[in-house]
Amino acid sequence: MSQSNLRTMGQQFGRRSWAEPWKIKTVEPLRMTTQEQRETALTGAGYNTFLLKSEDVYIDLLTDSGTSAMSDRQWAGMMMGDEAYAGSRNFYNLESAVQTYYGYKHMVPTHQGRGAEHLISQCVIKKGQVIPGNMYFTTTRLHQELAGGTFVDVIIDEAHDPQSTHPFKGNVDLEKLEGIIKRQGAPNIAYVSLAGTVNMAGGQPVSMANVKALRAMCDRYGVKIFLDATRMVENAFFIQEREDGYAGKTIAEILKEFCGYTDGAWMSAKKDSLVNIGGE
Ligand SMILES: Cc1ncc(COP(=O)(O)O)c(C=O)c1O
Repeated sequence: MSQSNLRTMGQQFGRRSWAEPWKIKTVEPLRMTTQEQRETALTGAGYNTFLLKSEDVYIDLLTDSGTSAMSDRQWAGMMMGDEAYAGSRNFYNLESAVQTYYGYKHMVPTHQGRGAEHLISQCVIKKGQVIPGNMYFTTTRLHQELAGGTFVDVIIDEAHDPQSTHPFKGNVDLEKLEGIIKRQGAPNIAYVSLAGTVNMAGGQPVSMANVKALRAMCDRYGVKIFLDATRMVENAFFIQEREDGYAGKTIAEILKEFCGYTDGAWMSAKKDSLVNIGGE
């Protein structure tokens, strides 16, 4: 690789050692709590982890969201942010990264993923419409239903079976989906809500074969597909590892091919994109 092609920090530093090739320079002190304080906090929250105050949590197992440390270059990038009232160059950087890696032409930045879910739901869902999806995600379903839609689960049965070793437990069950389209009528389907990987199924991936077949079915009925691309880089990794014909393709190629079968997407940038806040 020539010097000018060394894009990532790993490439620039000739990385690939057994140890992490970075230092973590920032610490955030945590409040130490007693068992009694934790029990009081838990009962006060009705055992709902979403209602716990983060300052009461010592070990947070709720999510991987926004938990990665940002690099010195990411922080430096923020210091060089263009605060222009219109036409900020940082918008164009982000837009071109989304176009290059995900392939979508238009992009609206949001404060985090749920802001993007809200925008898409309000724009696309008409009251009374159905949104079939490969298992619900909390904030996604909330915004779909606030917009007047009803979510229906169409994930394959293996996703509900922890003993199953199916390699793509996030796949859409095309028979279940077709049954819903026929029962409801295609105009009553707002879109298919496809998530790769599937958070509530333990991060299970969707295969390329499945999204291709889904595209073909949706084209037959004139139904759109919107993708929750929050962990699509990770999904591309699983395809590279597990699906015939993809071992020799790069993650970037797989990601772009997968997104190419969908009509649009939203994402939380707080997971795969390793930033502490953001979405589009
Ligand atoms: C699959 C998925 N979609 C959407 C979201 C919502 O994103 P955010 O937390 O950035 O609002 C999350 C994260 O919590 C998620 O895991």
